[in-house]
Amino acid sequence: MYRVIDLFSGAGGFSTGMAMAGFHVRASVESDENAMATFKANHPPVDLMAFRWKIESFPMIMLSFTKGIDVVVGGPPCQPFSDAGLQNPLDERAHMFKEYIKLLNGVERPHFNPPSAFIFENVEGLTRVRGGEDLRTIHRALADCGYHLSTQVLNAHDYGVPQRRRRLIIVGSKYPGFRFPEPVAANERRTLRDAIGDLPPTTETGEIEVDGRIVTGHKAPSHSENLVNLIARIPEGGRLVDLDLPDAPRAFAGSYARLRWDRPSQTITSSFAKPSSARCIHPTENRALTVREAARLQSFPDDYQFHGGDGSIRLQIGNAVPPLLAMHLGLALRNHLEENGVPFQDYKLPEGRSIPEEKRPWCLTYKQDEKFKEMLAEKAREAVELVTDA
Ligand SMILES: C[S@@+](CC[C@H](N)C(=O)[O-])C[C@H]1O[C@@H](n2cnc3c(N)ncnc32)[C@H](O)[C@@H]1O
Repeated sequence: MYRVIDLFSGAGGFSTGMAMAGFHVRASVESDENAMATFKANHPPVDLMAFRWKIESFPMIMLSFTKGIDVVVGGPPCQPFSDAGLQNPLDERAHMFKEYIKLLNGVERPHFNPPSAFIFENVEGLTRVRGGEDLRTIHRALADCGYHLSTQVLNAHDYGVPQRRRRLIIVGSKYPGFRFPEPVAANERRTLRDAIGDLPPTTETGEIEVDGRIVTGHKAPSHSENLVNLIARIPEGGRLVDLDLPDAPRAFAGSYARLRWDRPSQTITSSFAKPSSARCIHPTENRALTVREAARLQSFPDDYQFHGGDGSIRLQIGNAVPPLLAMHLGLALRNHLEENGVPFQDYKLPEGRSIPEEKRPWCLTYKQDEKFKEMLAEKAREAVELVTDA
C-alpha cells in the first residue's frame, strides 16, 4: 500500500479520492481548525497523523514518525510568486512552496526518504500569471528535486464529476512515463440532474431523507424577499443581465444566473450560496445552492461530515479537490508506480484499524451505477489484499 501525505489538506477532498484509489492516507498538515476537524472526522479508521499547523512553522522532523511516505499530494495556496519571491525570506507564499520543496528533497528528516511521486494541484490561472513565469519557476524548483514532471490542465467533468472545474495538475515522479488518466466515456459524464435531481425540498433543519437514509445540509440559504422575487423571474439556464430589467441590481455576466438540469454545474466556489456570485441558482427553485447540493456537485459522498459554521463549511467545499477527480489521478499514479516496480513499503495497517466496510467504496450518491460501484469495490478489495499480504 502506498502511503500519502496530504499538505494543505483542507476538508480532505484530495485524500478521499486517493483513499478511493487504494492509497493509505498516513499524514496531513492543515492550519485551519474547522477544516482539520472535518478531515479527521472522515479519515479516522487508519493510523492517521493529522497535524494542525501552519506549514511554515511545522517541524518537519515530526514526519519521521510516519517512517516513510511514498506520495505527496496537495498544492500550496495559489497566490503568485516569483523567483525573486523564492529568494525573499519575507515572502510567506514562497515560504509555503519552499516547505513543499524541502519535503520532496527529504532534507532535515532522519529516516525519511524522498517520496517516489507527488501530485501538485493548483488553479488554472497559474499558467497565465506573469506570462507563465510563475509556473516556470515552480517547474524549475520541482524538477531540481529530481522528479520527472508531467503537467496538464484537467477538467473535473471529464472524470465523472458533475461540474466544470479546470485545475492545473503537475505530477512529479522519480520515474519517467507517467500518463494522465483518460477522460471517462460520454455516458459516464454527470449532469446536475444526476447529482442532485433526487433530493427532496429543503427543510428548516437541513435534514432530509434520501433512500431511507438521513442526509444533512439541505437547508436553503437565506435570501431577502426582494431577491427571491428577482430570481423568480430568471428562467432555467437564464441570467439576470439578459432580462433587461430597469430596477435590477448590477450584475456581471455570470452572476444571478440559474443552473441547467441537463448540464454540469459551473465551478463550485465558496460563494455558492450567494445568487450574486457566479451561476449558482437552483435550476427551478428560487434560491442558491445548499451545502448538500454543493457537496454532491463536488462528488463528496453524502455521509461526509463537515465541521464548522456555514461559512467555513462552504469554504471547505469550494476549496476541495473533487474526490472523483483525485481518485482518477490516484489510479493513474498507482498504475505508474506499480509499472515501475515501486515496492509497497513494508507496512501493515495496525490491528483492528481497517477501513469499515460501509465507508468503502466512497461514492457520489447512493444511486451510483453498478459498474462504477464495482470498480471502486474492486480497488478496495485489492487494497485489503495488499495489506493482508504485507
Ligand atoms: C485549496 S485548500 C485545500 C483543499 C484540499 N486539498 C481538499 O481537497 O479538500 C488550501 C488549504 O490550505 C490551508 N492553508 C493555507 N495556508 C496554510 C498554511 N500556511 N499552512 C497550512 N495550511 C494552510 C487552508 O486552510 C486551506 O484549507
